[in-house]
Amino acid sequence: MARLLVCPPDYYGIEYEINPWMRVSNAADPEKSKAQWHNLMRTFEEDVGVELERMTPVKGLPDLVFTANAGVLYDGKVVISRFLHPERQREEEYFERWFTEHDYSVIKLGVECYFEGAGDLLGFTDTWFGGYRQRSDFGAYTALSEIYGKEILPLELVSDKFYHLDTCFCPLSGGELLYYPGAFDSYAQDTIANSVEKRIIVPQVEAERFACNAVCVDHHVVLPSGCNETMDLLKRHGYTPHPVELDEFFKAGGSAKCLTLALD
Ligand code: ARG
Repeated sequence: MARLLVCPPDYYGIEYEINPWMRVSNAADPEKSKAQWHNLMRTFEEDVGVELERMTPVKGLPDLVFTANAGVLYDGKVVISRFLHPERQREEEYFERWFTEHDYSVIKLGVECYFEGAGDLLGFTDTWFGGYRQRSDFGAYTALSEIYGKEILPLELVSDKFYHLDTCFCPLSGGELLYYPGAFDSYAQDTIANSVEKRIIVPQVEAERFACNAVCVDHHVVLPSGCNETMDLLKRHGYTPHPVELDEFFKAGGSAKCLTLALD
């Protein structure tokens, strides 16, 4: 059974602006955020059959809900994130503590390298991809590929709206890639085209509703609601889409995938 790390939104809110989606004046509704988050968790547990590990939320850390950015985990080894923005650097110790308490071996990258975890490092079994320029540094992938003994293809992200790789790039269990090419420079677009045969292109309007910020478990794909064309594309490829209303989290620049970290 797939396991995901999540963090309840008790202290979620828009308290600073570190991406173009965030406006302090556009506050998140606490009750609506909690209802949307719980509905997402219900979907994972009951409709998809995922096991959830819940972290303890921390007052003053509104983005801790985005556990995709805790770090990256593979082979029992966790590389903890080193956030670009000081506002999120305060999350690092809480993520690290969670992994240590759960007996993972925790590795840290050098401080001179920024790396925002599974938000920027994604892939298929054999090919991994690392998003850089917006948040993570190119150099992080050299270090990570040594740690994990995997080749990582760096992909340059050119739009500040798609500041993490998981906002525009979603590998599916059957080997297809769901993605939005407009978020990448032309070299990265070529890299993707040359390394992934089955590509499903998300239209811009739906990419801007975080259609690519989806969680795929077997043939299930959990994605934000309002992405009908993406849902049709997924169905045509044999997947079962599970739309969940998540607009309170769009206000922070996040959606379904950002709110989870795969633990296996
Ligand atoms: N407000 C958060 C930030 O800008 C959102 C993080 C979304 N996470 C993700 N994996 N895309 O850092």
